[in-house]
Amino acid sequence: MQPVRHFLQLRDLSPDELGYLFERTRIIKERSKSYQQYWPLQDRTLVMIFEKPSTRTRLSFEAGMYQLGGTAIYLNTRDSQLDRGEAVEDAAQVISRMCDLVMIRTFEQSMIERFAANSRVPVINGLTNDYHPCQILADIYTYIEKRGSIRGKTVAWIGDSNNVCNTWLQAAALLDFKLHVSTPPGFEVAPERLGACAASHVRSFADPMDAARGADLVTTDVWTSMGFEAENAERVRAFENWQVDAAKMAVAADDALFMHCLPAHRGEEVSADVIDGPRSVVWDEAENRLHTQKALMEFLLLNRVND
Ligand code: CP
Ligand code: NVA
Repeated sequence: MQPVRHFLQLRDLSPDELGYLFERTRIIKERSKSYQQYWPLQDRTLVMIFEKPSTRTRLSFEAGMYQLGGTAIYLNTRDSQLDRGEAVEDAAQVISRMCDLVMIRTFEQSMIERFAANSRVPVINGLTNDYHPCQILADIYTYIEKRGSIRGKTVAWIGDSNNVCNTWLQAAALLDFKLHVSTPPGFEVAPERLGACAASHVRSFADPMDAARGADLVTTDVWTSMGFEAENAERVRAFENWQVDAAKMAVAADDALFMHCLPAHRGEEVSADVIDGPRSVVWDEAENRLHTQKALMEFLLLNRVND
């Protein structure tokens, strides 16, 4: 029997597997757009466990599973025994006997690692405090769709050193592009995360304008992620100069794109003229969550397919 494959962080897939997934996404998306029925996951069940809110992640996994012929079940931890102290290990044993695939959105990365270690079926990270790998699959697929290979390009991350930023760092190393990072003082990327990346893949900038200069893609995220709400007032003050605005887009490459994982706060991390402007691809980026995750679920359950 093949060992169970999990997707707990982006680097759980090799560069070759990521390349396969992006090509597979193109085929699955085309098929879906022309309403060709494709049900490779008929009789398969996905359980989605949420300990934090979601719009895109829930909808894209649920719709994606139905479109592949399977079934999806939504479980909020507040309504489950997990909220009353059932051990994650015990829950994993039981849940993974009742379904074929599990997606979890939670706080601690260690929770999904403990779950996966006790699961008979693949586990997907639907966002933790540390990583958001499904988001970066969609972001890079969107870049490829619009501009071709991301290899050798420059991506500017302006804002918080959060789960999405940490995943971009992994992506730069895996797919061989350069990440320019600029975060306010006190909110820097953890030195061990920066240290794990070669200088050819990451560079830090004190001034966000310098990070944006020449970038092929400028991206950001909320200043206050889920679970950090108590720091909101302090963050709004600290991040004031880290808004992606027209001035920052003006120093990026002429054909630079703007991305944001959403939900966005216009007037905070991004100005309205940028997110609603011609270089923004946020709606395609959000839609591509659906297509990339369909390719991911197919890969985790059926491995590589040729049809
Ligand atoms: N980008 C993203 O993961 O959105 P949701 O929080 O709505 O799932
Ligand atoms: N960094 C954000 C992403 C939301 C999709 C958060 O964790 O809240």
